[in-house]
Amino acid sequence: VDLVSFAHGLPKAELHLHLEGTLEPELKFALAARNGIDLAEKTVEEVRATYDFTDLTSFLAVYYPAMRVLVTPDDFHDLAWAYLQRAHAQGVVHAEMFFDPQAHTSRGVPFDDVIAGYRRAVVRAERELGVSAELIMCFLRDFSAEYAMATLMDAVRYKSWIVGVGLDSDERDHPPAKFAEVFARARQEGFLLTMHCDIDQVGSIDNIRSVLNQIEVDRIDHGTNIVEDPSLVALAKERGLGFTTCPVSNSFVTEQMKSDEIVALLREGVKVTINSDDPAYFGAYVGDNYVALAEEAGLAASDLVQLAINSFEASWLTPARRAAYV
Ligand code: ADE
Ligand code: ZN
Repeated sequence: VDLVSFAHGLPKAELHLHLEGTLEPELKFALAARNGIDLAEKTVEEVRATYDFTDLTSFLAVYYPAMRVLVTPDDFHDLAWAYLQRAHAQGVVHAEMFFDPQAHTSRGVPFDDVIAGYRRAVVRAERELGVSAELIMCFLRDFSAEYAMATLMDAVRYKSWIVGVGLDSDERDHPPAKFAEVFARARQEGFLLTMHCDIDQVGSIDNIRSVLNQIEVDRIDHGTNIVEDPSLVALAKERGLGFTTCPVSNSFVTEQMKSDEIVALLREGVKVTINSDDPAYFGAYVGDNYVALAEEAGLAASDLVQLAINSFEASWLTPARRAAYV
């Protein structure tokens, strides 16, 4: 079989996916019409023309404003359901999906409406696609620690629907330590922990050291520049820590896929995984990311299989459910 069929056909888990980053222009127009919202762009092509990202900041400047079409529980359901169908078509059998409640509560949408819609899609995916799905709530690191703590208190009421918490948005000037207390409380409440440690941002290797040693996260999102410090790599390997990397996203926000770092971690036996991040904006769902990395780095079929195995091993499936896949 050809690379695309093989990569898409491999059963896999997706562990780094922002639901708000799956908003395709076509759905954006449909939701805008449904909610009576006027959009500046009038065609899908005009929307895509705004996707000329050069770094994380220029991506986020397009990503957040687009969310104003998401208003009702149905909107959040439709967004997640569209993603789950697309992911299923590229071999995803388990998805742990980030969502950004503060991108909605900060503009007046109730937390309860966001989670109600997303939860309905999770339940539907299990029933209609046989895809198991979980939600990971992210705090926006450019908002205050107090606002994050208040959002955590909202989430506590929905503990059984949220497997863990993460941290995303712009890392510059917002290091992990800013949220140490919030993450300690989240741990106490029973949530698993992950955090974006974005590549090529100031002080990033120090941020990785701090999330490993102070916050003691259960996983790291991006973070492949850990290869700069072999002692940290050894620590991550010893702990069986998973890394969720996003090759095509990297090529937009850093101008390279970071395939050298990803492959170095793979060869080292670290649980590195391949994911899509914001597929509607970067034009690649998870199977497409396997293909892009394989082409750039000249990976063998056995490497792609190992990456898929890693996706289950780094997942937050319970051991009994994980055993169904690996
Ligand atoms: N929020 C959505 N996508 C993100 C990314 N790639 N990095 C940081 N925050 C994000
Ligand atoms: Zn991300």
